[in-house]
This record gives sequence, structure tokens and C-alpha cells, in this order.
Amino acid sequence: MKTVFSGIQPSGTLTLGNYLGAMKHFVEMQDDYHCYFCIVDQHAITVPQDRLKLRENIRSLAALYLAAGIDPDKSTLFIQSEVPAHAQLGWIMQCVSYIGELERMTQFKDKSAGKEAVSAALLTYPPLMAADILLYDTDIVPVGEDQKQHLELTRDLAERFNKKYNDIFTVPEVKIPKVGARIMSLTEPEKKMSKSSPNPKSFISMLDDEATITKKIKSAVTDTEGGIYVDKENKPAVTNLISIYSLCSGLTVEEIVERYRDKGYGDFKTDLTEVVVEALRPIQQRYYELIQSEELDTILDHGAEKANEKANRMIKKAEKAIGLGRKR
Ligand code: TYM
Repeated sequence: MKTVFSGIQPSGTLTLGNYLGAMKHFVEMQDDYHCYFCIVDQHAITVPQDRLKLRENIRSLAALYLAAGIDPDKSTLFIQSEVPAHAQLGWIMQCVSYIGELERMTQFKDKSAGKEAVSAALLTYPPLMAADILLYDTDIVPVGEDQKQHLELTRDLAERFNKKYNDIFTVPEVKIPKVGARIMSLTEPEKKMSKSSPNPKSFISMLDDEATITKKIKSAVTDTEGGIYVDKENKPAVTNLISIYSLCSGLTVEEIVERYRDKGYGDFKTDLTEVVVEALRPIQQRYYELIQSEELDTILDHGAEKANEKANRMIKKAEKAIGLGRKR
């Protein structure tokens, strides 16, 4: 059975973009792959975090993974900082990376642009991400479109290490969904929907209640021309809303376009609201049951144990290949 690895940062409540671009696919892959899903808290501290809020976000993300359908009997769910091999291999991967290639990462350029104090870790974040993936003999990494460049770098670093030291790493494939790989902001459809946006109207959070979702979809921008059809270039806002509708309802894009052929934005938005609320309702119910439960800690303890077992084997191999320590 092939191995899948993916991670999500606990840096705020997940958006519908995180769910539709990533988490929903994780759930679908569990039966066919050996899966590891990680709460990447060490990635989150590359930008300043309030310590209590971070703790809360870590727990909340764990509950959301489970509420969305990650089954701990099928998948290993764990917190990155509870598996020290991530940071250990992260360092080794930094030593294999070139500053130039890290400076070329668009996420680094976006996050550092115009800022005076940028942490060194914001630059060296991709080698840690590579370490996350390479520790588990990962074959496939499901992610949204924005992580594609980091995955290409991961492949380069794995190949570079294998060639230079010893052929120990599996070179992973990236898997990006056909629809929903880049869910866009509701207010600025040229930007991706992001949990760190200062404007809450730009995203739907996975924990927004019905009234909030209704308001946000009502105020979502549309395009000046009235039709409801897909045209990324000229109608990015409506195209985005159709993708959200499709992923939340299970209807194909073609079926949706056909259904609203002679209708206006008002009808479309009312139905879209219902479809989004219904998609999130069971997840939210389960989330509130889980968030305070001891079950959550048991699952995370067990996940860390399983992940440590696997990751420790790989870090030993990597240290041996590169010549660290005393063992021959
Ligand atoms: P993060 O936490 O920003 O996002 C988690 C996942 O959600 C996807 N995503 C989106 N998909 C569609 N539309 C959007 N608007 C949208 N916004 C986010 C992301 O592509 C991602 O799949 N660096 C990663 C975390 C990470 C990781 C890893 C991922 C660390 N180590 C190893 C995979 C493998 C990140 O910041 O994702």
C-alpha cells in the first residue's frame, strides 16, 4: 500500500479553502493509502504566535481533522513537535538546501515583502516541510495549488541527498485536486482564501455558524455580467463560487451551470449558502463533541507513538548516510 503524508498549520481556524483543497481529500484517501496527517505546529511559529492561542489552535485543528472524517484506526494523526525527528531532519535538509532556491519560493517572497523583521525560519521553512514528508517514505502528498512549489523543492532535495549521500529517500509525487485546488477570497477573487486574512468577510471558516455564512455569501463579490458559468479569466468570482458549490454538493460543475442557466445571482447564492451550511453542519457537531474530550488526547498520544516509531528509523538512516555521530 502506498504512503500518503500531508500537514496543516494550526495558525487560525481552518477555512473552506483548507477543507475543500486539502482535508476533504485526505478523508477520501484513507481507505486506499497508508496515511499520516500532521498538525505542523513548528511551521506555525515561523511567524509570531500568541502561546495560549497556539495551544488552542493545535487542539482545535486535531478535533477538526477527526470531525471532518479522519479515522484514527486508519490514519496516523499527530503533532509535529511531538516527533523530534522532524526538527532533526529539518536541519539536515537545510544543510542540503541552497539559499538561492529558498529565496525564490513565492510564499517566502509574499510573506516577507515589506516587512522589517523576518524570521530566518520563514526562509528555511521548505526544508522542514521536506523533512516532514521524507521521514515517512511518502509516495503521495495531497495539497492545494499554493504548496506545489514547496513540493517541487522537496523532490529536488530528496534527489540531491540520495545522489550525494545514499539512496534512502522516496521521491514523493504531489497530488493537487482538479476542482478546488485554489479556492479564492470571497471579497478579492484574485487572491486565495486564507485563514490569516485580516478581513473575515473574505473567508468562510469551518466553524462559522449559519447566520455568518449567510452574511458572508450574500456579501461575496460577483461579476458585473449576470450569467452563472465558468470563465476563470473574465468571471473569477462566480467561477470560484461554482467550485465551492460543486465540492460541497457533489454536483458536477456542468450540472450546476445547467441548473442556473436562466436564474440570477440571488437564487444561486441562497442555494449555495444552504449547500455550504449542510456540508459543514455534521463536521461542526462532531467538532464540539470532540474538542473537550479525553478521546482527543488518547488519539494524539497514540499518533505520536506511531509516527515516532517510523520517523526515528528514517532519521537514523539519514544521520548515518551523512556521517553524524559515532555509529559506522
Ligand atoms: P496550510 O496550513 O497553509 O494549508 C493547509 C492545506 O490547505 C491548502 N489550502 C488551500 N487549498 C485550496 N484553496 C485555498 N484557498 C487553500 N488555502 C490552503 C494548502 O495547499 C494545504 O494543502 N506548508 C503547508 C503545511 C505543511 C505541509 C507539510 C503540507 C507543512 N509540512 C508537508 C504537506 C506536506 C501549509 O502551510 O499549509
